[in-house]
Amino acid sequence: MTRSPHRKVEGIDHRISPEEIKHSGWKAIFRDDENAQESLVVEIGFGRGEFLVDLARRNSNKAHIGIDISWKRVAKMARRLALCPVRNLRLIEGNAKEAVEYMLDDGSVETFWINFPDPWPKRRHSRRRLIKRDFLDVLVTKLIPEGTLEVATDHPAYAKWINARLQGTQGLQNLFKPYPYLSNVPGRHLTAYEEIWRSKGRTPYFWRYKKVSL
Ligand SMILES: C[S@@+](CC[C@H](N)C(=O)[O-])C[C@H]1O[C@@H](n2cnc3c(N)ncnc32)[C@H](O)[C@@H]1O
Repeated sequence: MTRSPHRKVEGIDHRISPEEIKHSGWKAIFRDDENAQESLVVEIGFGRGEFLVDLARRNSNKAHIGIDISWKRVAKMARRLALCPVRNLRLIEGNAKEAVEYMLDDGSVETFWINFPDPWPKRRHSRRRLIKRDFLDVLVTKLIPEGTLEVATDHPAYAKWINARLQGTQGLQNLFKPYPYLSNVPGRHLTAYEEIWRSKGRTPYFWRYKKVSL
């Protein structure tokens, strides 16, 4: 699954390949930052990356990996990080559906963030959605015991779909119970998409689930 990163970056390149993580393990990737060895946080589909940078800066004791399928977004973020490095952050260019399963050890991720994944609103495109039963099963396997999965969308039909699949996934427990989801999560920072949707009056949906033993 090797894909050499598109476009050269002048300075410290925060991009790594899935192979490097697979073969060295995340702790070795972050060995130069001894403060960031506590746990691993992964954002899937980081887009412009402002949420991820903020997360990494506020949690210097944790290692962060962002995965995005768009080489343009990854390259843009890598150029920004080269100018303003964040030691506890690395980027992967690739399809998270493949990368997560391939490169991460089971029971190794403290938190997965999936913010505003593409909703693929047309029925015939719904199979392209990221949140599906088999991918959720993979995420559960990769989480540490009591690790968390954070999901957000602004799209009502996708929200219904996501809610049903999260509720139907074995080994996950809703931390917002008795509510299925929240529209505001205190302390949560806005992502670029959330800012746009909120300015248009759309209400987001947020889920927080914990991995529990069966
Ligand atoms: C709607 S944008 C949301 C971006 C960001 N999370 C936000 O809230 O501002 C969806 C992002 O997910 C990325 N993406 C879509 N499918 C993906 C996949 N299978 N693996 C990794 N990233 C993916 C897209 O390239 C895009 O950056």
